[in-house]
Amino acid sequence: MLGIFDSGIGGLTVVKELLRRAPDASFVYLGDTARTPYGTKGEETIIRYALDDAKFLIDRGATALIVACNTVSAYAIPALKKAYPAIPIFDVLTPAIRAATSSSASRIGILGTSATVRSGAYERALKTVRSDLTVTSVACPLFVPLVEEGWLHDDVTRMVVARYLAPLKEAKVDTVILGCTHYPLLQSLIAEEMGSDVTIIDSPKAIMDEVMDAHADLLNTNKDQQFWFTDLQPATASIASHWLEREIEVRKGEVG
Ligand code: DGL
Repeated sequence: MLGIFDSGIGGLTVVKELLRRAPDASFVYLGDTARTPYGTKGEETIIRYALDDAKFLIDRGATALIVACNTVSAYAIPALKKAYPAIPIFDVLTPAIRAATSSSASRIGILGTSATVRSGAYERALKTVRSDLTVTSVACPLFVPLVEEGWLHDDVTRMVVARYLAPLKEAKVDTVILGCTHYPLLQSLIAEEMGSDVTIIDSPKAIMDEVMDAHADLLNTNKDQQFWFTDLQPATASIASHWLEREIEVRKGEVG
């Protein structure tokens, strides 16, 4: 069974993509809502949280892990692989980089959390594959709380989107990587602001392409689908159900 985790509800964008392709897949999802956001934390804390999350999922039967969080993917993959050498671990960064570098992109914009942008992970990996690329990165720390609050189409969110995207428009980027799994929830606003000529790469789609291609065997069909959160706010279940377009039962779990 797949184990999927994020700091909160952002990883549900990966779950949505999984369910679109394999509605009967079995998985256990963990959103660490008690400690979200991760994107404002330092490396040591992010790694510690990632190890706690992985343990929670493995204790509940996960035999492969999807790290549905760019921030964790930027810092904690070596630590996770060291802790669980026998478990396949998919990070969300690599497929997005593959999607961007195999396209005709020449000027790439990256939107991510402060920690992801600070890590330079995307920029390094992109330039390693294609040194000709121009990369502009923008940290968008206000996006995650706006998404967790459910303000997906609010005027305030629209203003914040316009402000964060200004440097990308100035750099005339042709491709934008949504380098945080929360951001696909704001995709329509981001696309509207950037205009229809700009390609948007969303990491949930990219990671599911990879999982489906290489490990279709993991998508067994007994439809055991569990949603765990470390903190349950009244809105958690409704935002999650709304996004997944189905009623889901959310449970509270402790990590760490
Ligand atoms: N959704 C996460 C990411 O992809 C983390 C956001 C956060 O907790 O700051 O980076």
